[in-house]
Amino acid sequence: MSYTKRREKMGRTIHIHRVPAAIALITITLIIVYFVNFHADERPAVYGLLRNQNKVNLRKLLIGAIQAAQRGGLEVLDVAQSRDLRERSKGKTDEGANDPFTDADGRSHCVMKEGLHRIFPRVKIYSEEDKESCSNVNTFDLDPTVLHETANLPNELVDIKDVTVWIDPLDATQEFTEKLYQYVTTMVCVAVKGKPIIGVIHSPFIGQTAWAWVDHSMSEYLASIHPVNPDSSKPLITVSRSHAGSVKDLTRNVFGEESEILTAAGAGYKVLQVISNNATAYLHSTKIKKWDICAGDAILNALGGAMTNLNDELIDYGPEGSPVNDQGLLATLKNHDEYIEKLMEYRKSHTAPAHR
Ligand SMILES: *[C@@H]1O[C@H](CO)[C@@H](O)[C@H](O)[C@H]1NC(C)=O
Repeated sequence: MSYTKRREKMGRTIHIHRVPAAIALITITLIIVYFVNFHADERPAVYGLLRNQNKVNLRKLLIGAIQAAQRGGLEVLDVAQSRDLRERSKGKTDEGANDPFTDADGRSHCVMKEGLHRIFPRVKIYSEEDKESCSNVNTFDLDPTVLHETANLPNELVDIKDVTVWIDPLDATQEFTEKLYQYVTTMVCVAVKGKPIIGVIHSPFIGQTAWAWVDHSMSEYLASIHPVNPDSSKPLITVSRSHAGSVKDLTRNVFGEESEILTAAGAGYKVLQVISNNATAYLHSTKIKKWDICAGDAILNALGGAMTNLNDELIDYGPEGSPVNDQGLLATLKNHDEYIEKLMEYRKSHTAPAHR
C-alpha cells in the first residue's frame, strides 16, 4: 500500500467513527442534565463544590497547623539528639547579637512549610527560613486525632485570598545551641484579613502544644496552664535575655522599683509565661518579626488578653507590608490599657529630639 492510500484509509476511518462519537457525547450530556435536574437534593453538593474552590476550611487549617508544629518539633529533637547542629551564622541582629542558624531550623522549616503547602497549595505561607531550599521532605496527611475528643470545632470556610499563615520553625535558636531547651518552640499562626485567628506554640522538649482558635476552642495543655483568676497585683515583666539591658531600664523607669523582671528567651516561651501568669506582661522595645509573635497574639486574643505595639496599635499579619514589626511589643492577659498608658506616657516624655 502506498503512503497516500494509507492516509486516505485513515481519513475514512476517522470519518466513519465521528457519528458514534457524537451520539455518545449527546447521550452523556443528556445523562448529566438528567442527574442535575432530577436529583435536586444533590444539587447543593455539586454547586457547593464549585463555589467553595476559593475557600479554605479553618478547622482543617487548625489540624494542619498543629501537625506542622509537632512535626517540626520532631526534627528539632532529632537534630538535638544527633549532637551535630552544624551551626552557622545568618549575621547579626539589630541589637548586635549573633543570629545563628542550625540544621534544626532548616529541617523544621522544610517539614512544616512543605507539609502545609502540599495540603493547602493556594494558601500564602510565610516562614522565617523561606530562603532555604527543601528536598526529599516527608509530608503528612491531615490527622484530626491531634485534636482532643471534647474539642467541638465547626467547619468554617473563609476566602483563601484572605488567609496568611506564619511559620517559625525554631524560636530561640541561640538558646537551642546553648542547650537551654525549655525556651525552644515551633510556631504556626493563621491570620484572616490580617487578624490572628489560630495560634499554635509547640514546645518540643517539654512535649506540649498550646493552641487556640479564637471564639472556638483551645488545647487541653493551654487550658491547664491558664489560671482562671490570674493574679496581676504587681508588675512582673518578662523580657528578652539577649538584649535585656535597655528594656530592663525601661521596665524599672515605667513600672517602678517594685516591679519584677523575668528574663527569658523566645517570643513563644515569653507569651506562655504571660498566659500562665508567670509574668503579667511581655515587653519588647526593639524590632521583632511577625512569625515570632503571630501565634502568641492569636492565643492571647482567644484568652481575652491583648498584644499591641508600643503605640497601642494592633499588628497586621496580612500579606502586605513588611514581616518586621518595628514598633516594639506589649503582651498582657489583663490590664493592657494600664500598662500601655504608662509606657506611652513615659516614652512621650523621654523621647530625645531628633538630631538635625
Ligand atoms: C511557670 O513557672 C513555673 C516555676 O518556674 C514553671 O515550673 C512552669 O513551667 C512555668 N510555666 C510555663 C508555661 O512555662
